[in-house]
Amino acid sequence: MPPQTDRLSADTEGLDRAAELLRLGALVAFPTETVYGLGADARQGAAVAAIYTAKGRPAFNPLIVHVADVATAQRYAQWSPQAEILAQAFWPGPLTMVLPLREGHGLSDLVTAGLQTVGLRVPAHPAAQALLRRFDGPVAAPSANPSGRISPTTADHVLAGLDGRIAAVLDDGPCAVGVESTIIGFDGPQAVLLRTGGVPPEAIEAALGASLLAPDSATITAPGQLSSHYAPRGAVRLNATQVRAGEHLLGFGPVDGTLNLSLSGDLAEAAANLFKYLHLLDAMGGPIAVAPIPHHGLGRAINDRLTRAAAPRD
Ligand code: TXA
Ligand code: MG
Repeated sequence: MPPQTDRLSADTEGLDRAAELLRLGALVAFPTETVYGLGADARQGAAVAAIYTAKGRPAFNPLIVHVADVATAQRYAQWSPQAEILAQAFWPGPLTMVLPLREGHGLSDLVTAGLQTVGLRVPAHPAAQALLRRFDGPVAAPSANPSGRISPTTADHVLAGLDGRIAAVLDDGPCAVGVESTIIGFDGPQAVLLRTGGVPPEAIEAALGASLLAPDSATITAPGQLSSHYAPRGAVRLNATQVRAGEHLLGFGPVDGTLNLSLSGDLAEAAANLFKYLHLLDAMGGPIAVAPIPHHGLGRAINDRLTRAAAPRD
């Protein structure tokens, strides 16, 4: 019999059990406002290594470390005035900051993939917050899906991909934001957009009063940003205004299809529905066409994920 993955409720008993499993070095998937994360104690090398095994991740890409608050983040990273501005503006929330590691940080090398920096995030989701406070330590967590597949926005998605491979999933319903966090790195004082996500780049630029650099114009990059990612089984065709034979069309606004990300053209609603609808269309089988999505605000994160879903596989 395969090992059992427990589905825990986000009540006192479930949260206590989830924190205990993390302490024991086991893997626990948990909800954040972006997507479900696959968590392990970021200080235990064997626990972090088990994340890669469970996901079938081909290489050791750096993982995001989740903490309960700014004070805890400062234990692991060197702080800067720019980090302070962004933490004040967007934490807790769907923002990850890549910062220089602090001496004596105690994180496993597998979390940072040997880099001198660490990606830190303070999630806003109440169950994630409650778990991080109970566990009282840093939790490394990539999205809780098999490598290269669509990210999970419900506990059912997590179980569909990882049942029997992880100790438990903390189930607290669907994720509100629906795309992963925005990742910001720093080139000296200048902020670099490493991945678009739940915080629109325009909002970050407004908070900083400065433009974001593109990764290729800076000396840092986001390793592990593989071009084919978030992939459904069938082929994906973008900017479709009409459906072709055999395809399922994922609509947006007036371009309607089998499913519609947001009939009213609301990008936040579309982001929240994106992975759920890709999972549903994937289950129906066959190629997927996707209506054009405006390229501003959260639309940039949506288009990034769709471009990866449509990228050639090898
Ligand atoms: O919303 C999210 O960010 C979700 C939830 C669970 O928090 N997590 C997530 O993790 O999307 P993941 O593993 O799918 O993406 C993490 C990415 C890495 O692929 C890498 O590009 C970047 O974060 N990253 C992490 N640490 C980094 C570092 N030290 N330097 C550069 N990039 C880093
Ligand atoms: Mg991922």
